[in-house]
Amino acid sequence: MTQAKIIDGTLFSAGLRDTITERVHHIRETHHLVPGLAVVLVGEDPASQVYVRNKNKRAAECGMASFEHVLPADTPEAQVLTLIEGLNDDPDVHGILVQLPLPRHIDSQKVIEAIRPDKDVDGFHPWNVGKLASGGVGMIPCTPLGSLMMLKDHLGDLAGARAIVVGRSNIVGKPMAHLLLRESCTVTIAHSQTRDLAGEVARADIVVAAVGKAEMIRGAWIKPGATVIDVGINRIALPDGKTRLVGDVAFAEAVTVAGAITPVPGGVGPMTIACLLRNTLTACARLHRLDIPEAEGRFV
Ligand code: GUN
Repeated sequence: MTQAKIIDGTLFSAGLRDTITERVHHIRETHHLVPGLAVVLVGEDPASQVYVRNKNKRAAECGMASFEHVLPADTPEAQVLTLIEGLNDDPDVHGILVQLPLPRHIDSQKVIEAIRPDKDVDGFHPWNVGKLASGGVGMIPCTPLGSLMMLKDHLGDLAGARAIVVGRSNIVGKPMAHLLLRESCTVTIAHSQTRDLAGEVARADIVVAAVGKAEMIRGAWIKPGATVIDVGINRIALPDGKTRLVGDVAFAEAVTVAGAITPVPGGVGPMTIACLLRNTLTACARLHRLDIPEAEGRFV
């Protein structure tokens, strides 16, 4: 039985963070500037609290300033918008991230559109969405960016490859499809209405799974030798009452068929935060016209 290469996102992200740390120290010493990331959390969702804590910890580790704004769940929308206006104007803040999902009484799209596009390190503002779709230079969403970095590191040139993105969210599926198209892949976007999902997956040299359904993509669907990027993070209950994190791909099956696969945890997850830091560095460098590679439109 063959065994796929495991694409180690923990290792890859550590290397990326080392490069970012070097760059941040260079900027601090040469330009007397400290790249700064502001993270806004509204409410007490435990998973979001963990993510926000990790983001701040990682930002501090690589020498960036991090500004945490935690607001109660019943904060009025207008107050969130006022906070964002202040961050837009704050010269110490180069990147702004509002943790999603927001409480239901707040219009997420309105909040996203209030963020200055050049500080939108999530790449969710319509200006950045449009830049990605039209081949321009903007901010690229972190999870798709991290996924593409791992794909290119493993495969090199992606031109001509058949790629399938399973899931059509604004956060992952759609930007991932645009990135793969930009790399000259032949791209299929599959979703809940796709008729023959197994058949579509079976044709793909690259599978990006971002549906949010535990182990939905089976090993038997995967083309032998394909590269599989599993974006899903699902907590499942085990018979003994404990829980376990699994991806959107049935890993134990897929690992015997694929050429390479990302594990969950330890695959895409750590790359997302590393790319958030990279986008913050990019935002700082562009704003101050610093001559570092991260300021360019080239991203991998
Ligand atoms: N919630 C889950 N993923 C993300 C993300 O990439 N960015 C933000 N802001 N919130 C999220």
